[in-house]
Amino acid sequence: SRIAVFASGQGSNFAALVQAQREGRLGGGAIELLVSDRPEAPVAQRAQEAGIPSLLLRPKDFDSREQYEKRIIEELQRREIGLIVLAGYMRLITPVLLSPYEGRIINIHPSLLPAFAGKDAIGQALAYGVKLTGVTVHFVDGGMDTGPVIAQRALAVEDGDTADTLAERIHQVEYELYPEVVAAFAAGKIELDGRIVKVRK
Ligand code: GRF
Repeated sequence: SRIAVFASGQGSNFAALVQAQREGRLGGGAIELLVSDRPEAPVAQRAQEAGIPSLLLRPKDFDSREQYEKRIIEELQRREIGLIVLAGYMRLITPVLLSPYEGRIINIHPSLLPAFAGKDAIGQALAYGVKLTGVTVHFVDGGMDTGPVIAQRALAVEDGDTADTLAERIHQVEYELYPEVVAAFAAGKIELDGRIVKVRK
């Protein structure tokens, strides 16, 4: 699969995916493009260093969200992108992107969905006081972190955890889990049946 990664921030998951590809852990997955809605985000620098082309756009420069996404679609089609991997992309996707890429957009979220959807999931989990949290990879639909779940990993919240210490452990889990799911997708091992996802071994 030819992959576009969408990211708005640090890009540590982007870097982990690039590293996985270099080490042959992305199966048939090939990262062909970074798309970012924040040209000044650190992830743009990471793409440059990795020699991966990027499409850096400010949504404000477009008349509508739809026009912004149409510009992205042009680039995706030109590069024959088959899978969109959201990695800290802080925008909802509209039907302009969703319909041509239905079942081919995935996201990673730092909680066990459906708990703590939306922003600052790690802070939400700490404030709630849960003893177990984790990471979810899911298909993207029009909602906020509501699409079919592909894979989840749990981890314990320890006494004395801060947002930083918990985020550190969650990130380590993300860096392992996301490349595994991308490799499974690229191998055609992920089946979607309504809300239920099956990942073949
Ligand atoms: C990750 O925790 C991911 O789960 C969430 O946004 C964060 C992105 O971090 N969706 P990074 O930009 O990959 O470092």
